[in-house]
Amino acid sequence: MTNDQGHITKNLPITLHLPNPEATRQLGVQLGQSLPAGSVVLLEGELGSGKTTLVQGIGEGLGITEAIDSPTFTLINEYSSGRLPLYHLDLYRLESAEAAALYLETYWEGVEVEPGIVAIEWAERLPYKPSSYLVVQLTYNPSFGRVATLCAIDQSNLTGKI
Ligand SMILES: Nc1ncnc2c1ncn2[C@@H]1O[C@H](COP(=O)(O)OP(=O)(O)O)[C@@H](O)[C@H]1O
Ligand SMILES: [Mg+2]
Repeated sequence: MTNDQGHITKNLPITLHLPNPEATRQLGVQLGQSLPAGSVVLLEGELGSGKTTLVQGIGEGLGITEAIDSPTFTLINEYSSGRLPLYHLDLYRLESAEAAALYLETYWEGVEVEPGIVAIEWAERLPYKPSSYLVVQLTYNPSFGRVATLCAIDQSNLTGKI
């Protein structure tokens, strides 16, 4: 997940085997310990693929003491007891147009809210994305168990090079 300097490698997909829930949680813990304020983690994957488990790990890595539940019905849960605030969103129940009307960019721009980590389940439903983010795709492979693919996207960086 990290290169020699300890930074998450940009644009390079990394594939990890997650044999059990603990492995998923531990991946989250590493992210929670290392991601800077303003990071957006887009979680993609079927129901039951481990998205909430990963966010629970992120919360643990941030040192959040409250229990982290799935925000399927509440849409967003905010936690402020850790190193950085955690904004946990779940777009499962939304259409893209509804998500657009929510001005979710408020969370990653960090203008009206304190900059923190934004973790979004069902990020496939986001109608727009921040200029940089970490996308984590969780899949189930019958012969292999669960697999996570991580890819750090930095479009602001890309634009600078064109
Ligand atoms: N790597 C894994 N291997 C096996 N089971 C897992 C793994 N990661 C999570 N789980 C389990 O799968 C179930 C659903 O996980 P959850 O995080 O709620 O998924 P999602 O939020 O994607 O719907 C939970 O019981 C969780 O413990
Ligand atoms: Mg979930």
